[in-house]
Amino acid sequence: MLDLQELTEARDTALAIAREAGALLMSGWRKNPHVSKKGTIDLVTEFDLRSETLLRERLGRAFPNHTIVAEEGAARDVIDTRPVWYVDPIDGTTNFAHGHFFFAVSLGLAVRGEPVLGVVHAPALQTTFSGAVGLGAVRSSATGGEEPCVPSRTALLDDALIATGFPYDRRVSAENNLREFAAMKVRTQGLRRCGAASLDLCLVADGTYDAYWEQKLAPWDLAGGCGVLRAAGGRVTGYDGVPLDLAAGRAIATNGVLHDALVAAIAEARAAALV
Ligand code: IPD
Ligand code: CA
Ligand code: CA
Repeated sequence: MLDLQELTEARDTALAIAREAGALLMSGWRKNPHVSKKGTIDLVTEFDLRSETLLRERLGRAFPNHTIVAEEGAARDVIDTRPVWYVDPIDGTTNFAHGHFFFAVSLGLAVRGEPVLGVVHAPALQTTFSGAVGLGAVRSSATGGEEPCVPSRTALLDDALIATGFPYDRRVSAENNLREFAAMKVRTQGLRRCGAASLDLCLVADGTYDAYWEQKLAPWDLAGGCGVLRAAGGRVTGYDGVPLDLAAGRAIATNGVLHDALVAAIAEARAAALV
């Protein structure tokens, strides 16, 4: 485990690195970046690749004893016991490619599989979320303002603004979250789909959303936002309330108060979908 001094230094270094990658992304945002397809609707732009190269180089130099797992690089199994940086060079690539404001550089540090630190930098929103377990979490603006992230206290789904997302195989897989979406849309005050899992998680940490759920995520979609959420005192588990498993890719993230209610509601929606 890293001590608080090491976490503080790692957070500050990761913040500087994420901001550098964010500046690179802004040089291509809304300037017709070259886009290609990894799947039917799964895009990758030249800026995903350039951002990842920069992040790998900077993180590798700053943390030579840590493992780096990044989205666009070769897949690798994490079999060592070293801290692991999960890197999403652009979370919200579809948004980035369309000139939408909601995308982020997401860096998450996990120790023995548990996210302990997150930096999620949304350059077009001029907003950065960062935090580490034991240090709390903050939302910072480009002008230097900083406010603590505090989860909401909403206790009823009826009063909740929640968020979700949908997997890239949604055209061909029945496990596409649409039935859960329909169930939750009528049980809550509002349900949003903004297209960047890292920001969804940070908005739960910051008390904007009361909760968020999604499945078929990758560790780099989850680690940064989960680090921020856990630092802020929110709760994240797998479906059915099982401990979060970054590799399993299912997350239910809440303010804590709503957790059991959302776990039950998602389970109910999924059970009904099987009838
Ligand atoms: C995606 C976004 C999206 C979520 C998808 C992710 P990407 O990441 O986080 O919100 O619904 O499941 O894959 O592809 O933009 O890095
Ligand atoms: Ca992602
Ligand atoms: Ca990505």
